[in-house]
Amino acid sequence: MLEVKQVSKVYEGKIAYRALTDINLEVERGEFVGVMGPSGSGKTTLLNLIATIDEPTTGTVLIEGDNPYQLHRNQLAKFRRRSLGFVFQDYNLLSTLTVKENIVLPLTLDGKRVKEMEEKAEAIASTLGISEIMNKRTYEISGGQSQRAAVARAMIHRPKLLLADEPTGNLDSKSSKDVMEMLVKLNQQEKATMLLVTHDPQAASYCDRVIFIRDGKFYSEIHQGDNQKAFFQKIIDTLSLLGGDDHDFSSVRD
Ligand SMILES: Nc1ncnc2c1ncn2[C@@H]1O[C@H](COP(=O)(O)OP(=O)(O)O)[C@@H](O)[C@H]1O
Ligand SMILES: [Mg+2]
Repeated sequence: MLEVKQVSKVYEGKIAYRALTDINLEVERGEFVGVMGPSGSGKTTLLNLIATIDEPTTGTVLIEGDNPYQLHRNQLAKFRRRSLGFVFQDYNLLSTLTVKENIVLPLTLDGKRVKEMEEKAEAIASTLGISEIMNKRTYEISGGQSQRAAVARAMIHRPKLLLADEPTGNLDSKSSKDVMEMLVKLNQQEKATMLLVTHDPQAASYCDRVIFIRDGKFYSEIHQGDNQKAFFQKIIDTLSLLGGDDHDFSSVRD
């Protein structure tokens, strides 16, 4: 469903910076793929190219066989709104709105009927265990609840592809586990394809497959198989071979 072919990204500026070199990645429909690598290795850049937020310098990105960069401006906006879902480290919820209003936002933009929106919001909130906080404001809820609300907002329009950049980056390990379990559940229920950028080996161990990048280049790829604990260990082993800055993997070295 997703094909990244020979993609490179150079950030132009006073000094041009090559953030990605010749990345190839194929993701099947319904797959849950993790992307790991040290800070500055190009993970967010890769996600942004797939998210159609930023254009590759060379190479192509195909989503269901279509090149989103060939769409016209308003077609691209519609494509993003309908086919993609985004989750970020800092939740990006609007603090002036309630949880429910945040969740239905993507549908509001698409002009859906209020009743239909409310039904969908209730259904996804129940899946994510946040039904009780729907009328709260975002400053009244915890980080874990905020991220579950953000996941609900990202999934309410049933996107084909969910892109998550460090979604557990601000969460304690219990909330992080909750959010990952919700993502796996939605991945299975909705058959949504998911791409998760993360530093966290525990979070990555929920993926079907993890790819590692270093200095903007593909480094290696490992598959879960059927044992999450063994996969977690494999991820840690790969990270230690990969190296990286002390900050990123300090928790792993303990
Ligand atoms: N808009 C930009 N302009 C210039 N350089 C950038 C920009 N965005 C990211 N970079 C650089 O590209 C490299 C990769 O960044 P990024 O993709 O954010 O890494 P990661 O998410 O793996 O930490 C970093 O060295 C970063 O400083
Ligand atoms: Mg990043």
